[in-house]
Amino acid sequence: MKNVLITGGCGFIGANFIHLIRSRHPDCRLVNLDKLTYAGSLKNLSGLEDDPRYRFVQGDICDGELVNCLFSEEKIDTVVHFAAESHVDRSIDGPAEFIRTNIMGTFTLLEAARKMWIPDPSPVTRHASRFLHVSTDEVYGSLGETGYFKETTPYDPRSPYSASKASSDHLASAYHHTYGLPVVITNCSNNYGPFQFPEKLIPLMIDNALHGKDLPVYGDGKNVRDWLYVEDHCSAILEVLQKGKPGETYNIGGNNEKQNLEIVMTICDLLDEMAPPLPDGRKRTSLIRFVTDRPGHDRRYAIDAVKIREEIGWEPSVTFEEGIRKTVRWYLENREWVEAVLDGSYREYYSKKYGK
Ligand SMILES: NC(=O)c1ccc[n+]([C@@H]2O[C@H](COP(=O)([O-])OP(=O)(O)OC[C@H]3O[C@@H](n4cnc5c(N)ncnc54)[C@H](O)[C@@H]3O)[C@@H](O)[C@H]2O)c1
Repeated sequence: MKNVLITGGCGFIGANFIHLIRSRHPDCRLVNLDKLTYAGSLKNLSGLEDDPRYRFVQGDICDGELVNCLFSEEKIDTVVHFAAESHVDRSIDGPAEFIRTNIMGTFTLLEAARKMWIPDPSPVTRHASRFLHVSTDEVYGSLGETGYFKETTPYDPRSPYSASKASSDHLASAYHHTYGLPVVITNCSNNYGPFQFPEKLIPLMIDNALHGKDLPVYGDGKNVRDWLYVEDHCSAILEVLQKGKPGETYNIGGNNEKQNLEIVMTICDLLDEMAPPLPDGRKRTSLIRFVTDRPGHDRRYAIDAVKIREEIGWEPSVTFEEGIRKTVRWYLENREWVEAVLDGSYREYYSKKYGK
């Protein structure tokens, strides 16, 4: 882990990962390749600009020439691949970009790694390299009221987003089996925490509730997700990078199932406590509005994280109560960041999605 290529490092999880790896491994060279789509912001990494062991490259993971060039110029030995189109609703409205970035982009990176690492006759070099492909639990489909996703659960993706991620997982796995590329895959549950773009459930609800706007909740609000604080996800990735076996998949979860409605109500209560009251003195839970459900909305995701605990020794360290409190505080203390990432294009998307 000397020269690490991080893709999508200006997004939510990638930026948190860069901060973590920088603090734990100050000697690593970090190369962050990010296209800076609407979801990526350089503000997420402010403070790193002058670090001589950090380089930012604005570019597309589908650009084979650029990716090959970075691999050889920077002697990349480790890839942590976050870059993706990641919002399910956007994938329903326009799947094409998801197919391009998530599938073709992953393919481009795998090809570059194969060309760079596999012809190398030195077993030391090959042994020392890693391609960690960051994926989601959504590839496994939807659960009923019981059961958990294990690493052996058959794939059953049900949205263009999860289908594109599933496809990229299969490619990554095939590159291990066919070419011996040292690939490791992680499938993680829903993340929350600082730097998450305010279109995802938790930051969206914080922002709307703070300003006394409606809180749109899909369907009956009873869809269940297994929530993990983002720093815990990042520490799991670091552990897997160092202890994970090539060709293996590790599920990462928070052991923390919550219904969407429960999450929204918790945010309302925390804001009533931590932020100025609404002008009319109402409780923020009164802003909740049930809206037409997302097409094909998966009912429940839940992770069985026994393998990563037993083989890697990783467990989440932040409880939901601590994590959600820290997250609400972060969004209250970083209003400038929120304003800066919410540019015109997002506002337009939001009003198309939820009306005025
Ligand atoms: N957010 C979650 O809850 C969650 C859970 C499990 C897995 N994941 C996975 O983790 C990864 C990161 O998710 P996130 O929530 O941080 O996403 P995000 O949308 O916040 O960030 C994605 C980043 O990728 C960049 N990007 C997009 N297309 C690109 C391209 N063609 N070339 C280069 N850069 C590009 C964007 O500019 C952005 O910085 C994704 O692969 C996602 O599938 C996310």
